Formats: sequence, C-alpha cells, structure tokens
Amino acid sequence: MKLILLGPPGGGKGTQSKFLMEEFSIPQISTGDMLRKNVSEKTELGLKAKEFMDQGELVDDFLILKMIEKRLNDNDCKNGYILDGFPRTIKQAEGLNELLNKINQKLDHVIVIDVDDESLVQRMSGRRMHPGSGRVYHVEFNPPKVEGKDNITGEKLIIREDDKEETVRNRLVIYHEQTQPLVQYYNEYVFKVDGTKPIQTVKNNILNFLK
Ligand code: AP5
Repeated sequence: MKLILLGPPGGGKGTQSKFLMEEFSIPQISTGDMLRKNVSEKTELGLKAKEFMDQGELVDDFLILKMIEKRLNDNDCKNGYILDGFPRTIKQAEGLNELLNKINQKLDHVIVIDVDDESLVQRMSGRRMHPGSGRVYHVEFNPPKVEGKDNITGEKLIIREDDKEETVRNRLVIYHEQTQPLVQYYNEYVFKVDGTKPIQTVKNNILNFLK
C-alpha cells in the first residue's frame, strides 16, 4: 500500500499515520519528523532547514526531494509506505512522479484530511510531542496516560517550536497557497475524510475506505 496523507498543519496526519503503520505494517515517512531529527542533530540539512521551519515556511523542494529519494530506496519501503507531509508543492509532486517512475512504483491513494482553520489553531495549542518517536498527543483530545510523559518510554513530552499561534497562522496561509492545489492535482486518487470528527471516527472512516 502506497499512500499520501494530505492535509493542513495539525489536521491529524501524524496521528492517523501511526494507526495505518500498525494496520498495514508499512513505515510512516514524515518529512517534518525527518527534518526535526536533522535540526536536533545539527546536520548541514538541519541547519539550513531550521530557519524556515521556525517561521512556518517551507523548506526548499530540492532538499526535500533528495531526502525522499534516499528514504524510498530503503528496504523497509519495498512493500509500501505512508507519505506524511510530502509532497507539499506541485514541484514536489512532479519530483515524486519522476522518482516513482524510476523505481517502478505507483501510488494507491491520497487521503485528504479536511479541517477548518479555526479548529486547527485551537488544536495546535494543546499538542504535545515525543521527540524521539514523533508520537503526538493532545492535552484534551488525546491525553497521555501520565501528564507530560510519553506512553511507551515515559520520556518527557515537548511543545513544538512552530506551534505558536502566529506561526500556525503562517503555516495555514502557506498550506492554502502551496499545498491545497495538490488535492486537484491528485484528483483521481483522492479520498476525503472529515478531520473534525473524533480521532477514532477519522481512523475508522479511513480504514473502511482502504479495506
Ligand atoms: P510537519 O511536521 O509535516 O507539520 P505539518 O504538516 O504542519 O503537520 P503537523 O505535524 O503540524 O500536523 P499533523 O497533520 O501531523 O497533525 P497531528 O496528528 O500532529 O512540518 C513541519 C515543518 O517542516 C513545515 O512547516 C516545513 O517548514 C517543514 N516541512 C515538512 N515537510 C516539508 C515538505 N515536504 N516540504 C517543505 N517543507 C517541509 O495532530 C495535531 C494535534 O491535533 C495533536 O495534538 C493531535 O493529538 C490532535 N488531533 C489529531 N486528530 C484529531 C482529531 N480528529 N480531533 C481532535 N484532535 C486531534
């Protein structure tokens, strides 16, 4: 199964990816998580990306495509994967097409998670993340078993740098300008799901479609 999860910042792509990973035993490829790892390890890519990420701006298409090309060639991607947060521009989608042709693969579906802007701004203020795994929680809608701690490792949860309201609003503007046109671009592959419903309902709606 080769899937793209498309949707606004905070729409629930990361949350739903974790369910899909378990259900289909395929890896989640989150460009956001990959970039954050590079930032924390202060790699050359991380140093370049940090400034853009902190402002809620997109990182350069060329750098992202290079990172994805390397990842899709890994062994665990042979049976499929979930692309979470990639592609995000038409240029990235065109680059992905070329790459898939080169490695003889075809996309199965593009799941679009729809949520209105005001719900997203509210949601992001309650998000907590486990930096090691990318697992996400919400203080109200998906709280961890122990406040402030990851369910699996017990390690401390953090608030993402780019979850400040002002940065979230900028990420939303960029989403509407640069990423939303991909819904039309992938028209024939698209399944839309209402992301304002509770997490379990969104999960069931996606799984019912995929099975
Ligand atoms: P990235 O990490 O990809 O961020 P994003 O796309 O903005 O998405 P988020 O991770 O913020 O949200 P999500 O949809 O995964 O929602 P989540 O499940 O966490 O990118 C970060 C930055 O990296 C970008 O701004 C850019 O700079 C750079 N970047 C990344 N990829 C790039 C690319 N391809 N090209 C260029 N630059 C790139 O859920 C959010 C919260 O809501 C959580 O607290 C969760 O518990 C809660 N929640 C989830 N679902 C529900 C629900 N149904 N009801 C209530 N609460 C819910």
